[in-house]
Amino acid sequence: MSEQTLSNLMHEDRRFEPPTDLAADANVKEEAYARADSDREAFWAAAADRLEWGQKWDQVLDWSNPPFAKWFVGGTINASVNCVDRHVAAGNGDKVALHWIGEPEDDTRDITYAQLKDEVSKAANALTELGVQKGDRVAIYMPMIPEVVVAMLACARIGAPHTVVFGGFSADALASRITDCGAKVVITADGGYRRGAPSALKPAVDEAVTKLEDDELARKVLVVRRTGQDVDWDDDRDVWWHEAVDNASADHEPELHDAEHPLFVMYTSGSTGKPKGILHTTGGYLTGTSFTHWEVFDLKDDDVYWCTADVGWITGHSYMVYGPLANGATQVMFEGTPEKGRWWQIVQDYKVTLFYTAPTAIRTFMKQGREIPDGYDMSSLRLLGSVGEPINPEAYVWYREVIGGDRCPVVDTWWQTETGQIMISPLPGVTAGKPGSAMKALPGIAADVVDDDAKSVGNGNGGYLVLKEPWPAMLRTLWGDDQRFKDTYWSRWKGLYFAGDGAKLDDDGDIWLLGRVDDVMNVSGHRLSTTEIESALVSHPKVAEAAVVGAADETTGQAVCAFVILRDSAGDGGEDIVEELRKHVAKEIGAIAKPRQIMVVAELPKTRSGKIMRRLLKDVAEDREVGDVTTLADSTVMDLIKSRSTGAS
Ligand code: PRX
Repeated sequence: MSEQTLSNLMHEDRRFEPPTDLAADANVKEEAYARADSDREAFWAAAADRLEWGQKWDQVLDWSNPPFAKWFVGGTINASVNCVDRHVAAGNGDKVALHWIGEPEDDTRDITYAQLKDEVSKAANALTELGVQKGDRVAIYMPMIPEVVVAMLACARIGAPHTVVFGGFSADALASRITDCGAKVVITADGGYRRGAPSALKPAVDEAVTKLEDDELARKVLVVRRTGQDVDWDDDRDVWWHEAVDNASADHEPELHDAEHPLFVMYTSGSTGKPKGILHTTGGYLTGTSFTHWEVFDLKDDDVYWCTADVGWITGHSYMVYGPLANGATQVMFEGTPEKGRWWQIVQDYKVTLFYTAPTAIRTFMKQGREIPDGYDMSSLRLLGSVGEPINPEAYVWYREVIGGDRCPVVDTWWQTETGQIMISPLPGVTAGKPGSAMKALPGIAADVVDDDAKSVGNGNGGYLVLKEPWPAMLRTLWGDDQRFKDTYWSRWKGLYFAGDGAKLDDDGDIWLLGRVDDVMNVSGHRLSTTEIESALVSHPKVAEAAVVGAADETTGQAVCAFVILRDSAGDGGEDIVEELRKHVAKEIGAIAKPRQIMVVAELPKTRSGKIMRRLLKDVAEDREVGDVTTLADSTVMDLIKSRSTGAS
């Protein structure tokens, strides 16, 4: 977002007051800010008290060895007990946990908390039978079917940290994650449904397994039969879920784990090529996610909540699995992608009250026109959420008016894989929302916008977004790499967590997010690293050098644009070079990383020290006047690229 657009935005003077009824009965009221400020630890201890613990903690926070935090020290807890058993024990076993909706029409299942408890217990027994022990890692590579939730909770139950790999990632990406976290077992499915057709998953696992260098990795692969498509089978390694899990006992005595026991590792892109394994632990993560889910969505007992994220991303972990289930919520889980009216049909049929999605989806629906959602009765909705990227005021207002019938507050929630929980958001019963602003840090969270010298910029100014105090669901480290954890997040300014985002404070002190200031792109709310895509391109035999930038895109927020120099031996690369390279990136990383545009160029703009000036390439990709070229080693390079790019998209 340019400075110019931003200053236009900040003159946005529409305000949306909380609905009176919601405000009167809100789970969290204005006093919470002051209460948290006066005693942050007591505030989070009260949030933790909403959960069921074995041993209570002796100390809320141990911050004696920053940046390595320990929350609820000495406490013991089991995440799966909190997500299922305790609701059954409280007499809510018949409450629906998941209204699961498959992509093929009429393929639906309602799963109660009692049924979920049985399934999780069976899966925990089956995993133990397969040799999974507390502390062992399990990789999960699955479509959006109930078994993925069961698998995650079963891992949590036995204390085996899971790493869920998004089903759209390639075999290579899966193999590198299995290797990095040392996963002994993989849980997958034959396939899932995508846009009306079965789409295979097991072959990618088979291929990933061939790339593993250690026999201890992926010793067993547990396979759910979802589509019924033919799969290759290795009798020593592969096990059908319906044989192992369905025949297991539904009695499983859960062990209580230490509050700091690893719950899961989620890989995300950083500004260097290698994905980072973000480690979340049990007690603090569950406290942060369940509390904020109840707070920000104002969850009530009879709500029907729907988060449209895939479980392969952090939003699926925090606000589809752990937060809502720990709160005993009823939710919708949908296997499919947003096809025209299907989402609104689901809202109508299941009387969804709380809805959480990403701006990219909203912008897509805007383009298709309001006639589609207008054809459905969505009067059940009472609150709308947005996550993953900045929401432009136009999309915010459309979302509020067309989907929310001009009565539902919109909560724009800023957070990250690393933060685990929502950090900056309006409180729906308190805040008068401004379209385009995520507003304020939630109670108990300390955020600020600072300049290069770590000084607060003050109202009306822009700078870097930082977090000043630890919070319960914060990442604890990067899997196996404490040093990289320190260097990446804590080294820029002493004692401050740097999120990688730019932000501005308006005259009221409200926060406007401006996107990443590092080499991380945000495409449809998914994080991609420029360096990772560059490495994928350079691994192609015809490519000598590559530079990737995220260019503004009306629908996806940003789009991947690549500039490549071919090897001499490749000549002009051949007619299909662009398509060939796009496919190569999809194979190396996954379809989400496919460049929208690839330009074959003779040179890349470099400084005298050899650093690629991506800023200039971004100007080309966004079709702007090219900025200052005086630091280039050869200032004519940009003319060449410009002339090459004319009409090249
Ligand atoms: O740049 C911010 C953007 O997404 C990044 C985090 O990406 P990821 O770890 O994949 O998590 C996405 C889901 C929580 C942030 O550094 N981002 C996320 N939410 C917002 C946002 N940017 C602006 N407004 C938001 N509400």
